[in-house]
Amino acid sequence: MLGIGGKMLARKMATTASPINEVVIFGAGLMGSGIAQVSGQTNHKVTLIDREEVLPTAQKMIAASVNRVAKKAFKNDQEAGRAFIEDTIGNIKLVSDPGQALLTADLVIEAVTENLKLKQDLFKRCDDECPEKTILATNTSTLRVTDIMKDIRRQDRTGGLHFFNPVPVMKLLEVIKTDHTSPETFDAMTAWGRAIGKHTVACRDTIGFIVNRLLGPYIQEAIAMVERGDATFEDVDVAMKLGAGYPMGPFQLLDYTGLDLHKFINENPDHPFRKQSEMINKLVAEGKLGVKTGEGFYKYK
Ligand code: 3HC
Repeated sequence: MLGIGGKMLARKMATTASPINEVVIFGAGLMGSGIAQVSGQTNHKVTLIDREEVLPTAQKMIAASVNRVAKKAFKNDQEAGRAFIEDTIGNIKLVSDPGQALLTADLVIEAVTENLKLKQDLFKRCDDECPEKTILATNTSTLRVTDIMKDIRRQDRTGGLHFFNPVPVMKLLEVIKTDHTSPETFDAMTAWGRAIGKHTVACRDTIGFIVNRLLGPYIQEAIAMVERGDATFEDVDVAMKLGAGYPMGPFQLLDYTGLDLHKFINENPDHPFRKQSEMINKLVAEGKLGVKTGEGFYKYK
């Protein structure tokens, strides 16, 4: 249970009561770990699932990030900050097998790699094992929710919950409704989003939803500009930060979200903004995927 500090923050962040208490998250990468963290911070019982070898890194990432959040939220009350960290960590179970968690889950969120078959199989398993009440939601950023959920029986209890990186910092959550998502499911996903402290916006099930649909052409044109030799990537970044007020330039953002994800977008025949880029393909082939591998356009410690 959350200590006094944690309860205060959970109350401060939660603006709407939500009937969702138990959350199962598949995928303990950057996005899944972030989603687990914000859920744990707001007193939800979280089971975070991934391969055994991935879990220690996820645990470290969550601990480091919760510490940053606590330092800011409890700068004048270290004891409350410590309780908040302890309670948040205590709310998150990292496991390689869901065990009993699917049998009582209110919400399952999938944040595994952008592989359609993997996601479809995962939700089929959840559809078989989860009780009637469980809502099944994907955090996909490049695929259609409808395609991912196509074999699911409980179509009315499916949808999308699209988070932004870094999840503990970015305030937005896109709540995605397919043609089959019921109003009750949509309302429950929205209320939960608010309960974890996010500002929610609604979008139909279209590729890229709102944010990535608009970021797509921007990023592609930035890459084309550098490939044409119009400007260096460093100058494009500086220009967009100082001239347009963006917190990061497009190449810093590519490094931050991962060049492999961008390559995946370029290879998705359904993606409206796919555009092959030799520069991106070369970096990916060299294993330079951005911040997560220590190098992309820039080098990271
Ligand atoms: N956990 C907790 N806190 C964090 C954090 C993390 N992972 N990362 C940053 N912070 C906090 C820092 O502690 C700091 O707090 P302070 O204000 O109290 O000092 C604050 O956030 C700012 O961090 P920094 O000082 O380290 O650096 P910046 O000021 O440059 O901010 C940033 C970093 C928040 C990432 C900012 O650069 C930014 O907003 N960048 C744009 C990110 C963006 O566009 N994300 C969306 C990508 S698209 C996407 O996610 C879609 C998906 O489908 C992939």
